[in-house]
Amino acid sequence: MVSVLTSSAVFKALLFLALCSVWLLPDLALAKHAGITRHYKFNVKMQNVTRLCQTKSIVTVNGQFPGPRIIAREGDRLLIKVVNHVQYNVTLHWHGIRQLRSGWADGPAYITQCPIQTGQSYLYNFTITGQRGTLFWHAHISWLRATVYGSIVILPKRHASYPFPHPFKEVPIVFGEWWKADTETIINQALATGGAPNISDAFTINGLPGPSYNCSAKETFKLKVKPGKTYLLRLINAALNDELFFRVANHTLTVVEADAVYVKPFKTDIVLITPGQTTNVLLRAKSKTPNAKFAMSARPYATGPATFDNTTSIGVLEYEKSASAPSSNNKNIPLLKAKLPQFNDSTYAMKFNQKIRSLASHKFPAKVPKKVDRRFFFTVGLGILPCLKNQTCQGPNNTRPAAAVNNVSFVQPNAALLQAHFFNQSKGVYTTNFPTNPPFKFNYTGTPPKNIMLDSGTKVVALHFNTSVELVLQDTSILSAESHPLHLHGFNFFVLAQGVGNFDPQKDPSEFNLIDPAERNTVGVPSGGWVAIRFLADNPGVWFMHCHLEVHTSWGLKMAWVVNDGKGRKQKLMPPPADLPKC
Ligand code: C2O
Repeated sequence: MVSVLTSSAVFKALLFLALCSVWLLPDLALAKHAGITRHYKFNVKMQNVTRLCQTKSIVTVNGQFPGPRIIAREGDRLLIKVVNHVQYNVTLHWHGIRQLRSGWADGPAYITQCPIQTGQSYLYNFTITGQRGTLFWHAHISWLRATVYGSIVILPKRHASYPFPHPFKEVPIVFGEWWKADTETIINQALATGGAPNISDAFTINGLPGPSYNCSAKETFKLKVKPGKTYLLRLINAALNDELFFRVANHTLTVVEADAVYVKPFKTDIVLITPGQTTNVLLRAKSKTPNAKFAMSARPYATGPATFDNTTSIGVLEYEKSASAPSSNNKNIPLLKAKLPQFNDSTYAMKFNQKIRSLASHKFPAKVPKKVDRRFFFTVGLGILPCLKNQTCQGPNNTRPAAAVNNVSFVQPNAALLQAHFFNQSKGVYTTNFPTNPPFKFNYTGTPPKNIMLDSGTKVVALHFNTSVELVLQDTSILSAESHPLHLHGFNFFVLAQGVGNFDPQKDPSEFNLIDPAERNTVGVPSGGWVAIRFLADNPGVWFMHCHLEVHTSWGLKMAWVVNDGKGRKQKLMPPPADLPKC
């Protein structure tokens, strides 16, 4: 009897163990690695907003400006239901999210999807894999992103910590650009008349222009800090057309992350941030409450030929009164100014960018492709195109301003490239003959050639899965040298080197940093210079690459990479979701 009991107990124990290994163990493993699903509902709707003493109706998400913040952890899945209640076609883009095999959720209009039409909806469905830090989302059609944008905060996985001192508080600081007039009217008129679109009236910090503008003192972003505490500022440049210098008066910042990748921390007084870039900085508050307030100022870094909005947006850093501090009237405390570089200080820009280095630690390695399968050399810059039929243009000899990559000004197709690719229906939508090199050689940064007429077309580069790509982006001086913040969808790339003048394929590669280059999704091509990047095409789909100065995108400074499926089961693009919008 005893022995029977024992054997049945043993059997039960064995059964229990077996069940454990089948159910409990995988569960524990999942709990450690898998994230949760987070649901958001984004109603795209009009909202009256007053800035600079003028009220206008703007496109928003949920009536908020700036739009709602998305918070998630690395490994989480996001389900964002977007419902379009406005008269415009809409798409949203999750800028910097890698979208591994989920290109259908990337968002650029006519690249990965047809727009969501009035009254329609679309569920963006993607998982955040291997990324943590600050990114942002924005509309990706016409100029709607002028008012349709918000921050994405990706926290490390549960129980994972930052590779820097844990901040007391985290504060998104989103830079924007504000026009008193309707921005859709501005870009549509500019394209219709072949002129340059009007420049903005103000820059904003978290939607607020601040005290340097007429009638705007009440609309000032204020950051209240406690003495001695450390704050993580999540800087995002969501401005349309301007790179920005940012400084907090009398405070030094420590840069710890760029484009949702940790960097080797470095101290700086001034941050340069291009549209499309995000930068996390630590701000350590002074140990005692000072008898001053401090301007947090942002104003452009501008190198181009055109006039630009040369105003300054100011936010205010204020200290909470400590118990020991004498009770002074807050109103009489002086606001200390933040001095910023000259608008065209390219030397400063180049120096700042060179300081950004990957952490390249054991935990956060820099996986720089060491071998290169394909090399590309792309010129980026301005040019002209003939006026459209039945149109009169403001340029010389009835031409309109345009912009191009390797002399090809990209023509937006009427169907989405990703759909055409997936269903093998590229005919009549795009061709795969995007030039690997400029069609003709000239002194790119010297005296421009006589003929500055561009070609146009919907051309892409097709790549095999897992191709290791090296790409040199060369600015041209056609119309004028200008810095171009180039943004690549679907990948992070490594910034191997940058320089002034023309890239020298003999000499310059020896200077490439393959150890700890910055890993990012947007890089400024130096004004009158070049930048060399590498990325591994390990994400099947169609990936847009364009200048993140929206005016240049409108003029055609954009192209796309088609990355074909690999052989493996996990190397293929997923099929499109059932609710993918139709054109
Ligand atoms: Cu934030 Cu295609 O862009």
